[in-house]
Parts: sequence; structure tokens; C-alpha cells
Amino acid sequence: MRVHGKRRDILNDVAAFNKQNKTIGFVPTMGALHKGHLALIERALKENQKVVVSIFVNPTQFNTSEDLVNYPRTLDADIELLSKLSKEIIVFAPTPKEVYGDEMLSIKYDFEGLENEMEGKYRPGHFDGVGTVLKHFFTIVNPGKAYFGEKDFQQLQIVKKLVEIEKMSVQIIGCPIYREESGLALSSRNKRLNQKQLSEAPLIYSTLKQVKKDFGTKSVTTLNKWISEQFENNDELKLEYFEIAKVSDLKSIKRKQKDTKYRAFIAVFAGEIRLIDNIALN
Ligand code: PAJ
Repeated sequence: MRVHGKRRDILNDVAAFNKQNKTIGFVPTMGALHKGHLALIERALKENQKVVVSIFVNPTQFNTSEDLVNYPRTLDADIELLSKLSKEIIVFAPTPKEVYGDEMLSIKYDFEGLENEMEGKYRPGHFDGVGTVLKHFFTIVNPGKAYFGEKDFQQLQIVKKLVEIEKMSVQIIGCPIYREESGLALSSRNKRLNQKQLSEAPLIYSTLKQVKKDFGTKSVTTLNKWISEQFENNDELKLEYFEIAKVSDLKSIKRKQKDTKYRAFIAVFAGEIRLIDNIALN
């Protein structure tokens, strides 16, 4: 397995793969790899001859410096894990300077309103940072396919829009959410949860599952109220938002309409640690 930190080294590899007509899959990550990431990488290995995995904690997508500083970084363990998986993996773990040069700036994107909903509302500038780093990475890696988890469903929709806006040819592939047996969606941030928080966190998915069950018979208002109540008396978890939204534009709804696809989205704080999850409702 090859590990590169320099842009010119990954560019050299990519040029060689292109010359040999090898298909390239790409899995962008911020490291602290877990089974959710590995599921994406394994799918990419099945569908491509070479798989580039980027490991880069992208400063421009963090809206608080505490979150950026505290984000788990386990590069050596990540590389060790990937080296056991396949020799067709190429790791790209650059420094911020290698990605951004001297000025760490985000491009201001208009994702047709997708960026103003949910995560965009609570994390201003977040999706400009995500869009910018992915534009850089897609340009360097030039993959045929890139893999993203539905865990960050809003991000997945925004990446599809980014590719349209930037007129890039990469195919964006969404992959299912990987969960602990408890139902808790895997996340690098889970590494920061204490025992108490870990034992309460499965409430996030269990409430989502209940909402899915009740979605056919109960009103959106009733479901919103029910979710608030579930978290009101919890000492470990504080609800930031819960929304039932249309898949097409991620706008939250008050009332269901026929022939429309919906998903429920949730963000919860366990102490300082922010956890998100979502579920398809129909
Ligand atoms: P990160 O949080 O490391 O996630 C990398 C990819 O793994 C994303 O596509 C994310 O949706 C997916 N993923 C994370 N947890 C998952 C789970 N439990 N099940 C399935 N997929 C999961 O998302 C980012 O990094 C960054 O924003 C990035 C796209 C790398 C840009 O910096």
C-alpha cells in the first residue's frame, strides 16, 4: 500500500493508473477510521481497480475551533488498518498547506438552498468547506466513482450538486449507514463519548425507528412533539434539531404529500460532542 502526503506524488500515481486504464475509486475521509468508513472502502475496492483513500481533517469545514482541535486523529492506526485491507489502496494524507496553499479559503457555493437547511443552519460555512476540499480532491484524484455515507445524507446530496456545478464527471455513490449493534451510527466522534453518554446515545436511533413506524399514521406535528419529549428528560443528550424533510430539497415539512420521499434528520449533543443521524421514512 502506498501512502502519500504530497500532491505531486498522488498526481504521479494517478497519471500512471490512467495510462494503464485502471479504474480509480475515491473515498474521502477525515480519518479516525471505523467500520462505517471501511464499508465504503470495501465497496470501492469491489468496484474499482485502485482505491484512493484521503485522510484529511479539513480545517475549513469546522465552524468551531474546539471541534477542530478535539477531532480525533489516529493516522498511524488508520494506515495500519488500511494496509491490512488491500494493496490496491493508495492513502493520501496531506497537510492543509499541501491542499490549500498559503491561503486557507473556502469557495462560496450556491447549492440551490441545500446548504441552508439543517446542518447548514447550525454550522454556518460548513458546506462551503466540504465543497471546497472535495473540489480540490476530485481534481487531484480524478476518480471514476466516489463513495459517501448516507450517515451524512445532506452532505451526500450537496456533493451530487457540487459535481453538477463544477461539471465534474465523477459518479457519486451513496452507501448505507453502518451502525453499532446498539443502533448508534458509527462516527469518529463516538471515540470521545464517555460510558454514560455511550449508553444513552442509542436513544437517537431508537426514536428515529419509532418515527418511521408512526410516520404513516401520525401527523408531523405530533412526531416533532414526541421527539422533543423523548430528549427533554435525558441528562446526557440534548436535542439540537429534529426535522422531517423532503429528500429532493431537504426542506422540512409540516404536512405529508403523496408521492414524495421523506427522511427524518436529527442532531443531538452529548456534552460537547455533536452526533447526527437520519432515516428513510418511506
Ligand atoms: P468523515 O466524517 O470521516 O466521513 C467520511 C465518509 O464516511 C463520509 O462519506 C461519511 O458519510 C461516511 N461515514 C461516516 N460514518 C459512517 C457510517 N456510520 N456509515 C456509513 N458511512 C459513514 O464526511 C467527512 O468525513 C468529510 O466531510 C469529508 C467528506 C471527508 C470532507 O472533508
